[in-house]
Amino acid sequence: MIIAVDGPAAAGKGTIARALAQHFGYHFLDTGSLYRMVGLSLLRDGKTPHDEAAAVENARSLDVSRFCDADLRTEAVGAAASIVAVNPQVRAALLDFQRVFAQQSPGAVLDGRDIGTVVCPDADAKLYITASPEVRARRRQAELGAASYGDVLADIRARDARDSTRATAPLVAAADAVVIDTSDMDIDQAVAAAIAVVGRAAG
Ligand code: DC
Repeated sequence: MIIAVDGPAAAGKGTIARALAQHFGYHFLDTGSLYRMVGLSLLRDGKTPHDEAAAVENARSLDVSRFCDADLRTEAVGAAASIVAVNPQVRAALLDFQRVFAQQSPGAVLDGRDIGTVVCPDADAKLYITASPEVRARRRQAELGAASYGDVLADIRARDARDSTRATAPLVAAADAVVIDTSDMDIDQAVAAAIAVVGRAAG
């Protein structure tokens, strides 16, 4: 059983995907962390995320045991991840790991941008989790504490634009994805809606 959960930044897809994995007893992979690891490694090496040769080399030699680094979650690393993710060779280097992960028994939930379209086009259930940029910015601002709402909204819009307009595996809902707009939902409602969709596919 493969569950694909895609959507833009701060729409709630990570929380929903984790809750789905727990509810159904499936493995869980936050695929954004892979791109974040590449971005973080470059920043730590004093390199720009626009250094394509370094990004590709990094993606090819990724050490997934460093998955738990707290710095992975920062906005700077998220932006760097979005930049390295434009490169098709970086994406290709990360593809096998994701596909092998998805094959695990009894099932796997993967969240990202291109799971239902590219990584697992034959997934048993596909969810596209979205919310308005304003709602996402407000949620992200609450998470971050001090940052100004205007700055967070601008970052979200920039990330949406880069993730949606890149040539390789852009952020887009798969034709057969069920879209859940969480703008007017709290997290419990969003998780319940997602469980209902996956339950129908599993049943
Ligand atoms: O989901 P996230 O915020 O951790 O993702 C960080 C960036 O990684 C995102 O802006 C684009 C990229 N990404 C991607 O291109 N494809 C994925 N499957 C997951 C993330």
